[in-house]
Amino acid sequence: MDLKEKIRNIPNFPKPGIMFRDITPLLSCPDSFRESIKQLADHYRDQKIDAIAAAEARGFIFAAPLALELNAAFIPVRKPGKLPFDTNSFHYELEYGTDTLEIHTDAFSKGDKVLLVDDLLATGGTMNACVKLIEQSGAEVVSCAFALELSFLNGRDVLAPHDCFALMTYD
Ligand code: PRP
Ligand code: ADE
Repeated sequence: MDLKEKIRNIPNFPKPGIMFRDITPLLSCPDSFRESIKQLADHYRDQKIDAIAAAEARGFIFAAPLALELNAAFIPVRKPGKLPFDTNSFHYELEYGTDTLEIHTDAFSKGDKVLLVDDLLATGGTMNACVKLIEQSGAEVVSCAFALELSFLNGRDVLAPHDCFALMTYD
């Protein structure tokens, strides 16, 4: 099954010059969505993952079914003010402006093996913030998994030396 056939390309969204890779056709096709989760699960099945963490919103879409498939905990990483218990925060620079992500302080036990998941790797800023939050908590980042990777933005370099895996790559 060619999953890339289910990605819709929308030029100049959300601003001129950006080719937006729209995952909604893939999500609306159960066979394709199921296959994407299966391929991610098959890649990590033998790695004894304790927990899967993902940032809202699109990261949750792939992370939650993958967590069930790997029998791992699902840990949400959220925008400020959304999580109800004590949180750790990471503040980071974006192309334009800054952003913050938060995670519950009790999300992991020390030494937990954590797989980070997002729908798409672009500059790596979002995933790098997630990596820092996991490391602050004393857990171990095993790998960063994506459905799509925009390889020309070199997000992997930002995440190095952490392992990265993507189902689909756009050069
Ligand atoms: C998108 C995408 C990734 C991030 C990738 O999220 O879901 O999380 O951008 O870009 P980066 O590698 O340059 O950080 P977005 O911020 O658009 O939020 P959303 O998930 O709420 O749509
Ligand atoms: N997030 C960052 N860049 C993106 C793109 N080109 N398509 C979809 N989501 C994105």
